[in-house]
Amino acid sequence: MGRSSSNGRWATAVALAFCATLLVMLPEVSAKRFIVGGNMGWTSNVNYTLWAGNQTFYLGDWLYFVYDRNQNDILEVNKTNYETCNAEHPVHNYTTGAGRDVVALNVTHDRYFMSSKGSCYGGMKLHVHLTALPPPPRAAAAKSDSSRFTALRSQLVIPAAFAIAAIWDSLVF
Ligand SMILES: *[C@@H]1O[C@H](CO)[C@@H](O)[C@H](O)[C@H]1NC(C)=O
Ligand SMILES: *[C@@H]1O[C@H](CO)[C@@H](O)[C@H](O)[C@H]1NC(C)=O
Ligand SMILES: *[C@@H]1O[C@H](CO)[C@@H](O)[C@H](O)[C@H]1NC(C)=O
Ligand SMILES: *[C@@H]1O[C@H](CO)[C@@H](O)[C@H](O)[C@H]1NC(C)=O
Ligand SMILES: *[C@@H]1O[C@H](CO)[C@@H](O)[C@H](O)[C@H]1NC(C)=O
Repeated sequence: MGRSSSNGRWATAVALAFCATLLVMLPEVSAKRFIVGGNMGWTSNVNYTLWAGNQTFYLGDWLYFVYDRNQNDILEVNKTNYETCNAEHPVHNYTTGAGRDVVALNVTHDRYFMSSKGSCYGGMKLHVHLTALPPPPRAAAAKSDSSRFTALRSQLVIPAAFAIAAIWDSLVF
């Protein structure tokens, strides 16, 4: 009786460790969401050229602009207008009004973003260049087509979530 129960515990521990490993591996296969500017967010007096120089962007990643909606906005412009801080005729206006805007890095060409509120000259503009060759964990995913990549993620996440729920139930009994 005690023995089979301790076997049960051992199996549970192994299963838990396995699931934890899966979850730890997930960030490596999933796209990354960059909070633009890190803790500073999207604001004036931050040099986003310096910030971007520290990041590696891959196709499929996301930019997340967090800012004071009363102070700023987020526009995509072309290279010329980025260089001259010209917010007229933007390529795209990502401003939704919540101060939380998401941009999908789903095209390979360079992207240029700026605020139209006058802070552009102070550095509040962002040039995103995607890195072509992913590091090994992502290279494996990139070799297969992206739909398979997405399928792989849901195959891992959903069963892992169910497995953990089941283990949790068996532990609490
Ligand atoms: C770039 O990263 C280094 C190392 O993490 C850090 O010391 C530095 O402050 C970062 N620079 C910017 C502009 O974020
Ligand atoms: C950028 O857009 C402006 C119009 O706003 C246009 O005059 C200019 O030629 C464009 N530059 C490029 C590189 O597409
Ligand atoms: C961008 O869109 C927002 C929300 O629709 C709007 O309030 C704002 O005026 C637009 N900005 C520009 C520069 O077009
Ligand atoms: C990129 O994402 C945007 C918004 O999510 C979408 O409107 C656009 O069609 C996408 N472009 C491509 C090439 O997938
Ligand atoms: C931001 O940093 C870059 C790289 O050091 C520099 O070339 C640029 O002049 C800076 N921009 C501002 C507005 O200070």
